[in-house]
Amino acid sequence: MNVKQSVFGTLPDGKIVNQFIISNDKMSFSVIEYGAIITSICVPDRKGKISDVSLGFDTLEDYVTRNDKYFGAIVGRFANRIKGASFILNNRTYQLDKNDNDNCLHGGKNGYDKMFWQGQIFKSAAGTGVKFFRKSENGEQGFPGNLSIEIEYILTENNEIVMNYNAKTDKDTPVNLTNHTYFNLAGNGNGSIRNHVLFLDSDKYLTVDKFLIPDGNIVSVTNNAFDFTSAKEIGKEIDSISGGGYDHCFVLSGNIEKCAARVYEPKSGRLMEMYTDQPGVQFYSGNFLGGIKGKNNKKYNIHDGFCLETQQFPDAPNKSAFPSCIITSQKPYSAKTIYKFSVKA
Ligand code: GLA
Repeated sequence: MNVKQSVFGTLPDGKIVNQFIISNDKMSFSVIEYGAIITSICVPDRKGKISDVSLGFDTLEDYVTRNDKYFGAIVGRFANRIKGASFILNNRTYQLDKNDNDNCLHGGKNGYDKMFWQGQIFKSAAGTGVKFFRKSENGEQGFPGNLSIEIEYILTENNEIVMNYNAKTDKDTPVNLTNHTYFNLAGNGNGSIRNHVLFLDSDKYLTVDKFLIPDGNIVSVTNNAFDFTSAKEIGKEIDSISGGGYDHCFVLSGNIEKCAARVYEPKSGRLMEMYTDQPGVQFYSGNFLGGIKGKNNKKYNIHDGFCLETQQFPDAPNKSAFPSCIITSQKPYSAKTIYKFSVKA
């Protein structure tokens, strides 16, 4: 296990952004202090050929100026959408940014994806990694409470990237943190993910309006395009879904011991399994990728990457029937997600 630290770039305000490359003898991934962004995930295929299976850019400047797709980043304070960019908590109305139609997406215009996160290398029994810290002040983005956030990215000997999220507040506040990595198991820039075979351990999903806000209904996946309980190609029924593909929250068991998702790319043999303790996962099929120039001048077109954003339910601050996303000074936030890489013959 090894961690290498180097300077990735300098922010417009002069702050230096470090990059950390964490490796074991089979795979590696890299992260930076801007947005706590995962900038690469390099894993072998069945012949041992290593490719970077995450979408992104080559330079800090690109991440600062044109990462409106949230490649690799931590999103928050509330990942996903909040309807009307407002919510009521303890009889007070809180107003957020309307950065997605009338709604707030991923914390608004000053999302955690655009912020500096202090990184620190650490080793634990589980593996080697980097801890990122950030203090989100009371009122930042419109949310109540001073929030101290710590996010660990760990690599284990079993080719798992483990993400541990912890946050403490001094006032009641909604919190929903996730990582927005786009994966393409054939290698980033190598075409569509439609051929990837997906299993999702989810028999229900949240239906949404045309602005992708949950309408409050949680419906069965049985006999429709949302049924991935038996593995099927992502592309099989994607064209039947309005809005260009999947961008929906699927209900999970929240049991970290159980595989919540498994994705297999037949040509390379690469397999990724996802585990989480969160109640949902936003399965997003890269519907808004439209010819973006990414790493090594590669083009990312629609469906050239997918995300499995583990999270609380979208718009939970306005939907009392959804699992509560409110943390308090007595009840801190914690979440855990694991992405595990292997190959299948
Ligand atoms: C999330 C959303 C999508 C889209 C992407 C970023 O996954 O659910 O609708 O906004 O972020 O492009």
